[in-house]
Amino acid sequence: MAEERGHFGSKLGVILASAGSAVGLGNIWRFPTEVGKNGGAAFILIYLLFVLLLAMPVMIGEFVIGRHSRANTVSAYQKLAPRTPWVVAGLMGVLSGVLILSFYSVVAGWTIDYSMLSLTGQLSGDYDFGAIFGSFVSHPTRPIIFLVLFLLVTHVIVARGIETGIEKFSKLMMPMLLMIIVLLVVLSVTMPGASEGLSFLLQPDFSKVTAPVVFSAMGQAFFSLSVGIGCLVTYASYFNQDTKLVSSAFNVCIIDTMVAILAGFIVFPTVFSAGMRPDAGPGLVFVTLPYVFNEAFSAMPLLGDLFSILFYVLLLLAALTSSISMHEITTAYIKEHFKMSRERAAQIVTGICVVLGIFCSLSFGPWAEVKIFGMGFFDLFDFVTAKFFMPLGGILICLFVGWVMKKDVVREELTAGTTISPALFHFLLFLIRVAAPVFIAMVFLYELFGEKLLG
Ligand code: PFF
Repeated sequence: MAEERGHFGSKLGVILASAGSAVGLGNIWRFPTEVGKNGGAAFILIYLLFVLLLAMPVMIGEFVIGRHSRANTVSAYQKLAPRTPWVVAGLMGVLSGVLILSFYSVVAGWTIDYSMLSLTGQLSGDYDFGAIFGSFVSHPTRPIIFLVLFLLVTHVIVARGIETGIEKFSKLMMPMLLMIIVLLVVLSVTMPGASEGLSFLLQPDFSKVTAPVVFSAMGQAFFSLSVGIGCLVTYASYFNQDTKLVSSAFNVCIIDTMVAILAGFIVFPTVFSAGMRPDAGPGLVFVTLPYVFNEAFSAMPLLGDLFSILFYVLLLLAALTSSISMHEITTAYIKEHFKMSRERAAQIVTGICVVLGIFCSLSFGPWAEVKIFGMGFFDLFDFVTAKFFMPLGGILICLFVGWVMKKDVVREELTAGTTISPALFHFLLFLIRVAAPVFIAMVFLYELFGEKLLG
């Protein structure tokens, strides 16, 4: 007999699990990195606009597909539009989930190592942190051990199921994560010299806005909100009939955006107060911050240690609540499509991600010379998912909900458990049907062919 599908047990569980998926390395590691590289406040404003007008409609669309079909992201399209090519949108999501989880686990593995280094006091002192980071990530085995450890923890949570695994874990972790963030923000903005960092975050300089900056902001919005690859289709398939889709999506977007901006408030005031540069790229939180913790807290080394421990544990927890959601996309698909037990399906996903994750990890060291389209595995997986599959998936999800599903069904889903005004309904429908797909397509095509088109 088929195993029960499972469902979230409470409304709070729905919000915390979905917000847990959204809040992750994307907020605390990728967001400050992108803000630092792309000029600060102006990037943030464009990002906010994209969250509201592009990523949130896609999120609502995913919720509608998931709850209405009550199926994994591939079967959802098969159920709602049988024998059509739409199933490809689902399969693309499954593939993206595996690719993202593979490179994501590499960085998550680094956070385990850095949590341990800071717990044992090895990040406080006069060290060359660039060299420490460089020799760690290029080591042939050490990062792999942590990446596998991270995937095993993810595996254990997912294998326990929806209510007792994913929901329970998110309910435990998310409040802890929010508390750590608030504490770190308070410590960070009260440091001497923090104001320069604050103005970097708050005063826009629009001369920095170029086409690649706009494209990066869109990729970041999709990545951060976990939209475009069916992750939230999968989660919504476990929602109850009275879960309010619009307000849940809104709450998740607010929580995710707040955390990203607070992460900026943690990173930049400290970076500027220690006289460092904000555009160090992916090394920002692993190379720049250890210097910062030492510099900024040189008079109070214990506080510096505390800051550093809390920061890396925060990264690790955030990574876990997201990795379980990526894992679940493919686990749910394999379990339901091939009629397997959850445990067995999860084992297959973990196995694939361990292998691909090792490829990604090796691209920082022994395989540094192995390039596909000029990129190592890590960069390649990041590039094709955040810049290709997610926007493309976003367009397909909007078109599916807006033009393939019946308007009455969409209305029923959006109003279940609540009422929304006709004006809001039509506005949302317009965003989903026209505005979001057209705009995403424009940004996407411009980035791919812009230079050629404009000569
Ligand atoms: N939103 C996550 C983050 O910001 O770290 C990453 C992510 C999770 C992307 C789940 C995609 C996904 F399906």
